[in-house]
This record gives sequence, C-alpha cells and structure tokens, in this order.
Amino acid sequence: MEIVFVSAEVAPFSKVGGLADVASALPKALRMLGHRVLVCSPLYRGIRPEEHSLARRLSRLEVRVGQRTFAVEVHEGKLASGVEVAFFGVPGLLDRAVYGEPGGEPYPDNHVRFAVLCRAALELCRGRERPVDVFHAHEWTTALVPLYLRNEYSGDRRVGGAHTVFTIHNLAYQGIYPKEAMLELGIPWELWTPDGVEFYEKLNLLKAGIVSSERLTTVSPTYARQILTTEHGHGLDGLLRLRRDALAGILNGIDYSVWNPATDPALPARYDAEDPGGKLRCKAELQRVLALPVRPEAPVMGVVSRLVHQKGFDLFGEIATRVLRQDVQLVVLGEGDPALRAMFEDLRKRFPERVAVRSGYDDRLAHLIMAGSDLYLMPSRFEPSGLTQMYAMRYGAVPIVRRTGGLADTVVDCDASGTSGTGFAFETFEPAALYGAIGRAVALFHDRAAFIQVMRRAMRLDHSWDRSARMYDQIYRELAAADDDR
Ligand code: ADP
Ligand code: GLC
Repeated sequence: MEIVFVSAEVAPFSKVGGLADVASALPKALRMLGHRVLVCSPLYRGIRPEEHSLARRLSRLEVRVGQRTFAVEVHEGKLASGVEVAFFGVPGLLDRAVYGEPGGEPYPDNHVRFAVLCRAALELCRGRERPVDVFHAHEWTTALVPLYLRNEYSGDRRVGGAHTVFTIHNLAYQGIYPKEAMLELGIPWELWTPDGVEFYEKLNLLKAGIVSSERLTTVSPTYARQILTTEHGHGLDGLLRLRRDALAGILNGIDYSVWNPATDPALPARYDAEDPGGKLRCKAELQRVLALPVRPEAPVMGVVSRLVHQKGFDLFGEIATRVLRQDVQLVVLGEGDPALRAMFEDLRKRFPERVAVRSGYDDRLAHLIMAGSDLYLMPSRFEPSGLTQMYAMRYGAVPIVRRTGGLADTVVDCDASGTSGTGFAFETFEPAALYGAIGRAVALFHDRAAFIQVMRRAMRLDHSWDRSARMYDQIYRELAAADDDR
C-alpha cells in the first residue's frame, strides 16, 4: 500500500520527544512488510538539506490555508532505511525550532505553521504518481490532514480515495486556539459544535483529528483504556468513548539498529545480555564524563527526559534528600520546565559527589546514560507509551516506573529475590510508593547475582517494531477491505 505519514517530528532530523523516534522507525518497519511509505515534515531551522542528500524541487507548491497562500519549497530524499521523506520549507514560518524557542513558550502561530504542513502534504500527494491508500497523521499538529481531506479533497484522483488513521501520542497536548483561528485555518463553521472541533468556546485541533479520522490509535493498550476515563481523558474522554470502536492501543516499539548496546557507536565498550561485561566500562566512562567519583559499587540512577509535569519528577523531589543520603548516584539529562531544572540543579549543589545534571538535548549522552546506568528512573503521572524505559531495559538499566500507560505494559515488577520481573513498578503517585520502589531497587543492586539476573531478563526482552507494525498493517488492510466490499 501507499502510506503517507505526516508528522511534526522525525528522527534524526527534528526531535523533541518519542514522536520523532516513532515517525522514523514505524515507517521503516512498515516498509519491511512491503508498503511504500512517505514521511512529510517541516524543514526546521538546523535541518541541512545538503547533509542528508535532500533534493529541492525546482517549483514550489502553492498552499492555501484560510485566506493566505504560502509558497512551499519541497526537499525530497530518503532515510537510511529507504523510507521516502519530504520536507517543507517556508522561510519565516517553518524555519524555526519545532514548537518554540528552547526554554520558551510555543510559537503563537503554531496552528498556522502546522496547517501549512498538513495542506502541503495533501498538495504534494495530489501531484504524485501513485494514489495514496492511507494518510496516517500524528498528534494535534497534523489533525487537519483528515479534516481537510474529507472536506476539500474528496473528488481528487490521487488522494480522494485515501483512508485516514490518526494516532494520539499524548492527549495532554490538544492545540487549543481562539475561535478566530477557525477562519485563519479555513475550517467550515458547520464543524463548530461540541461533537465537532469546538471545545468550551475554543478551537481544539486534536478534536479535529478524533472526529474526522476513520481509525484512531494510541501508543499502548493500557493508555487506550485510560483515556476513556475522566481521570486520564483530559476533557476528551466523552468524545473518545463515542469513538471507542474505532480506537486501538498499539504499543510503540524500539529500533534496535539505533538502540542496541551490542552495536552502539556512542559507547566506549559494547555488550549484550550474554556478555554484559562491557557495561562496567560504560558506567566508569559515564561517571568520568560527568565528573562523578568512578565507583562501581554505587548504583547509578539515570534520567533522560523532557522535564515536564507528566514525567513526575516533582514526586522524586519530595524524597530526593532521603534517597541521596544513601550511597547512590543520580545522572540527569533533560530539558524543559525551569522549576524542575532548578530542582535537580539544587540537588547537584547539595550532593556534588552524587548528582550530575546536564541540560539541553544530547543524543550521544542519552545513549551513554542508558549504558552507564544501573537503574533508570521514570515516575510518570501518566505515560502514553514511553520509549526510554524500553531503551533502558535493552541497555541493562533496570527501570523504576510508575505503573501507568505504556510503563504498565512494558515493565514487570520484580520479587525480592529477583527470580521474576524486569524492573520496579509502584502503583500510587505518592512519595512513599516511589521511595519504596527505589529502596527495593537499591537493595537488589547490592545482591549482585539476583540483580544481574533481573538485568539480563530485561535486556533479553524483545520490543522490536515488527509486532506493532503488523497491527498497524492490519488496520490499513481492514480499511482497504471496506473498499472492496463497496
Ligand atoms: P516523550 O515522547 O514523552 O518525551 P519517550 O520516552 O517516548 O517520551 O521518548 C523520549 C525520547 O526523547 C527518547 O528517544 C529520549 O532518548 C529522547 N530525549 C528526551 N530528552 C532528551 C535529551 N535531553 N537529550 C537527548 N534525548 C532526549
Ligand atoms: C508521547 C508520549 C510518550 C510516547 C511518545 C511516542 O510523547 O509522552 O509516552 O512514547 O509520544 O509515541
């Protein structure tokens, strides 16, 4: 089938969180199943077309959004996996950071920026040789793909027959704008209703995706159930319950060609579950690089994360002093909320021998942290899927997680002797529960034989994309089969 992904992030070109990893790894897995996949994304500042052998089309696309017309440059090429990519360039509009300047607020015109992405993807595909079978959009940023398609392109020869799948990676981000944005984006007024895109007198772009796509997915089975509840529905659980028959939860996978300690070029030594010896060298290197005492006997707890409310680090803050009075080390790589950065910074000042903090985005250090850590901390309030706990497990950093969303689907709690389980999971979002899980983890760390058993069990898990890609494939096939019945 001819599948077109539209995504605001795609690794390695533009990445803020896990969406980028998914938008690059899932198309690759779908390609292995025999599909042709094109990924459409913006040409942000910092993506250098010449570095990635992208070729610029001579003519620009004319893209109309509301009353405005944009001249969009198209840069085409291929990912290392052979998946086709198209990047859209609009000077002044798209050539900025992904969502906002580092440490700042989102750009106020993001709705227009991403509407241009959606429209440009549709316009590009109108001119392509083969008709599109499925448009697969992700997050509120690309929710206008199914909406525009349905409203304005239904008669088109190339795209009019396409089906739509919409994946929610995080229900907390909805793209909410004032009513005037309806005009700016050219959304028809008949959709300004509670079962359309209206949300408490505002425009909610995520709703556009939920109401206008044929099929909906989210990124783990547990999260798919949770978002139907008031507690996790972020105000959209009612609408999602109406569409529950169209909704599936498919767990994210990981790309073992990128995240594999046996082949990772970012590491000083390679290792795997059968021969984990190299991990000790990685730990020493991590401690050295971050100027911590090089001590194999102290458990290193790693964090690689966006520093946002969702991830629950404020809960760790409540018990950090008690944890750090023990002989443990904490390494944090993260960017986001200044208050959370300040919290970790403060811990570093108080415990300079035990805490190292790096801010900013650093892919290489992210790999070294996974390899050099014994434990991995992820106390999320909610977690649609989560990729880093899966990376951590493959690298032998045993995860300490809250049992929610994709964390509940990927980490099995250990017993005290380490004879079962792949990590440490706690239930309630309370300091004592997290403290208990960290305590169990540190105790097991000192029981070497038991700990190594758990670590190897986690390393051997198979979270490759293949199984999940087959589930998406099944959804695409069901949509296509409906055409044959017609
Ligand atoms: P989310 O998408 O909610 O941020 P995931 O666990 O799905 O969480 O994915 C996070 C991805 O972003 C991982 O690939 C992780 O390695 C990466 N990441 C997050 N913060 C940083 C950072 N500061 N530097 C490098 N990589 C980061
Ligand atoms: C979101 C979620 C994360 C998920 C990622 C990729 O950013 O927060 O849990 O893994 O999307 O689907």
